[in-house]
Amino acid sequence: MESESAPEAEKSLQRSEERSREIEAEIASDPAGFRLLTGDRPTGRLHIGHYFGSLQNRVRLQNAGIKTFLIVADYQVIYDRDGVGELKDNVYNMVADYLAAGIDPERTVIFTHSAVTALNQLMLPFLALVTDAELRRNPTVKDELAASNRPMSGLMLTFPVHQAADILFCKANLVPVGKDQLPHVEQTRVIARRFDERYGRVDPAHPIFPEPESLLSRSGTILGLDGNKMSKSRGNTIELGMTADETARLLKRAVTDSDRHITYDPVNRPEVSNLVNIAAMCLERVPEDVAEEIGDGGGGGLKKLATAAVNDHFAAHRARRAELMADPGALRDVLRAGNERANAVAETTLAEVRQAMSMDY
Ligand code: TRP
Repeated sequence: MESESAPEAEKSLQRSEERSREIEAEIASDPAGFRLLTGDRPTGRLHIGHYFGSLQNRVRLQNAGIKTFLIVADYQVIYDRDGVGELKDNVYNMVADYLAAGIDPERTVIFTHSAVTALNQLMLPFLALVTDAELRRNPTVKDELAASNRPMSGLMLTFPVHQAADILFCKANLVPVGKDQLPHVEQTRVIARRFDERYGRVDPAHPIFPEPESLLSRSGTILGLDGNKMSKSRGNTIELGMTADETARLLKRAVTDSDRHITYDPVNRPEVSNLVNIAAMCLERVPEDVAEEIGDGGGGGLKKLATAAVNDHFAAHRARRAELMADPGALRDVLRAGNERANAVAETTLAEVRQAMSMDY
């Protein structure tokens, strides 16, 4: 944040990391005490960075017994672009990847913004609880603005408030996030607190909205094949839905360096180390070991090993997602069922909000 100096930001990140370790221990002893919400913007296809950075973790938390809500954030698609692009196709592919990765639609509520009217309505009272200065200094909004290369839309400025509605409509108390989403969870906590201060409660023992906590994801970041952040717009991603051949072709073009001796040294050899790391994650081995095995095999040997590792690890996932994509009717039914459940939850919360705000006529 603007007001936060670099050492202070570092300290608050450390606090979040410590708290995340404590939460993991609480999850192990009492998973039923948690309600989790997280999700993705369907602006493109999910890639292996999403898989290792968040999908795998969501499946683990779901399987640990935590009630989970997974939002396909379709209204977030439009804050920085003119049209919706390949929206529907992206949404179906996203749901297929969720299911193929092990998200169970019986246990986890998978839903879209656009279908849950009462969630979106929470945005109005929440907007009254924040100032424009607060929104303008949100570092994620600033980054998104810079990346978008266009003037700030009203929705981009206020999307953290909309995201607070995502989290609070189902009274989630746990949000698994990467570092870039920490400011949103902080903003959500502020909104929950201010709502309680201004409008009070229905049940005097509990505020209507809990203050959610972030759970920082544990795995390190996977870079794109050019050494930059993995992102669709850079064309440097290995999408979960790619074929083995497409994966091989992409990895062949990946950036390496001229030293034939392969080492794991993320500071001095970021591109080489990233490929080593991708292979290591797929093989569930430590990267140093993988590097040693390749030894003097050079970039060619590294790419060959990484390609085999990715293609083996994702073969089952890819087969499952292909089956799912072959039956769009079934995917649509999963979304419709999730939307129905999300609507019921959102209506209940909105009824409490109306009551607290004396708008229950
Ligand atoms: N903004 C998140 C992303 O880009 C997606 C998202 C939407 C989200 N609503 C959320 C994440 C609520 C956590 C909580 O990936």
